Amino acid sequence: MKTSLKACILGGTGFVGRELTQRLLARGYACHLPTRRVHRHRDLKLYPGVVVRPVSTLDSDTLTELFTGCDLVVNLVGILNESRRSSFTQVHVELVERFLQAAQAAEVPRLLHMSALQATAPEQVTPTTSAYLQSKGAGEALVAAQPQATIVRPSVIFGRHDSLFNRFAGLIDLAPGFFPLACPNARFAPVWVGDVAEAMVRALDDPNSLGAVYDLCGPRVMTLRDIVTYSAKLRGRKLHIIDLSDKAAQRQARLFERLPGKPFSMDNYRSLQIDSVCTGNNGLLDLGITPTDVDIEVPRYLAKS
Ligand SMILES: NC(=O)c1ccc[n+]([C@@H]2O[C@H](COP(=O)([O-])OP(=O)(O)OC[C@H]3O[C@@H](n4cnc5c(N)ncnc54)[C@H](OP(=O)(O)O)[C@@H]3O)[C@@H](O)[C@H]2O)c1
Repeated sequence: MKTSLKACILGGTGFVGRELTQRLLARGYACHLPTRRVHRHRDLKLYPGVVVRPVSTLDSDTLTELFTGCDLVVNLVGILNESRRSSFTQVHVELVERFLQAAQAAEVPRLLHMSALQATAPEQVTPTTSAYLQSKGAGEALVAAQPQATIVRPSVIFGRHDSLFNRFAGLIDLAPGFFPLACPNARFAPVWVGDVAEAMVRALDDPNSLGAVYDLCGPRVMTLRDIVTYSAKLRGRKLHIIDLSDKAAQRQARLFERLPGKPFSMDNYRSLQIDSVCTGNNGLLDLGITPTDVDIEVPRYLAKS
């Protein structure tokens, strides 16, 4: 096993980042994880090979310093909603620009970037494209110009610490017996976090992945209604799901985006107008991975004991 490799993973403290870190450690990488919130990630310091790097900002100088001596740099930083502190453009485009410049300045030979399925290329943006997908597409276009980069574009990701099934389970536990659901027919191909991380590490061994873009999908297409029904069954709840009309969904989004934590927003509503399913190749299969079904993993963490 190689032991002298060094990787820096932006967003390495998050849901996907932690899974990827485990797999890179197993491949002999020392993993440097910058974080703005070191107090939340003390547990990571316990892993041999992990170096938690407290940062107050990811400006160009900080990134260049972080990337110096790295064999691999990874960008996983992403947000689903804008806040007073961070806009989509700042996080998904401007940070990507600095990521690429710093990687070049530090002469890093290999880059991985996490985009999202249906991230919209700048030339395909329409007035109704969500700002999230638009900014993810703009960031992806910047990375696509780099021959030493590989881009992955997953559908919605599930796993023990996901914010998909866990989030619905939390709402279902509190629901009074009925469940009003916006965009019930939106379609996804939920993909397991272990498969996403495995795709990223396998890409490192595959010369065909240089400059390549992989869409990543699970084996089963589920509507939002299917996801809620499935979660309710695992939580042992019988729920009457009320499909909200398009108008009602928009009203709910306008109301909820004013609440703390923005549980649902107009931009989320716009993202849900496009199915998050693979329409071409599933990159998991291209990388020799059999996609894991929700039935294999989700009951382990969602079922009420
Ligand atoms: N989860 C999904 O279903 C899904 C689906 C498709 C695509 N993706 C993409 O996959 C990537 C990883 O997602 P995830 O679910 O693992 O996200 P996550 O759990 O929310 O983690 C996000 C990470 O990004 C860092 N971060 C967030 N905002 C930042 C900012 N303004 N400046 C610097 N760092 C920031 C956080 O680091 P600290 O807080 O420690 O500083 C955290 O480690 C994202 O790019 C996301 O768009 C996710």
